[in-house]
Amino acid sequence: MCAERRRQDHFARRAKQENYPARSIYKLEEIDKRIHLFRRGDKVVDLGASPGSWTLYISDKVGSTGLVVAIDRNPLTVGVPGHVTYLQANALELDVGAVRPMSGDQGFDAVVSDMAPRTSGNKFVDQSRSFELFVRALELGAELLRPGGHFVGKIFQGEDFEKARDRVRQLFATCKIIRPRSVRSESYEIYVVGLGRKQSGPIPRIM
Ligand SMILES: C[S@@+](CC[C@H](N)C(=O)[O-])C[C@H]1O[C@@H](n2cnc3c(N)ncnc32)[C@H](O)[C@@H]1O
Repeated sequence: MCAERRRQDHFARRAKQENYPARSIYKLEEIDKRIHLFRRGDKVVDLGASPGSWTLYISDKVGSTGLVVAIDRNPLTVGVPGHVTYLQANALELDVGAVRPMSGDQGFDAVVSDMAPRTSGNKFVDQSRSFELFVRALELGAELLRPGGHFVGKIFQGEDFEKARDRVRQLFATCKIIRPRSVRSESYEIYVVGLGRKQSGPIPRIM
């Protein structure tokens, strides 16, 4: 068995032992260990939340004084605590007005997106769909985050990657690119992180 296969089996086994429905938990865990995204009491939007690993991790980190709004076209497959609200929705059509009031007056502390398109087998088509989801996540982040809030978005690296990164740089004080070790070696997915949402203002378009 090759080293990459052994590594992926290790993450899959660990996820099962720790009662997470998907290995993707270790991507968020690594990102969080590196940049300390979540605090107790935080209000977080989790885009592309199904089957629910990130939701479970975030809900544990923010605790019962916090809030997680988990959004996906597909249902969560895990039981979640009372401070998680699940919304079944297509993020591309989501009415931001339905989510904004949930944070109260302040806005959300973090918006994270692990959204990914169904892969088509055509790298360019998949990259372009991933870019569309990333841009939508960033738009929602710009609308929903409090000043100082943080953003994490998954994107398949392609020709639009620099546009996406530059947009994050415009909106946030600091931009980081993170490729967690648990990402499969053949995958071109990467996470673009924006730390410290600048004061809200008009949101320039990038598409
Ligand atoms: C890699 S999975 C997310 C795994 C999840 N973070 C976890 O830890 O369990 C990607 C998710 O993105 C969701 N997704 C893709 N396009 C979407 C859209 N337009 N609106 C909402 N969810 C979407 C898919 O339904 C899928 O559940």
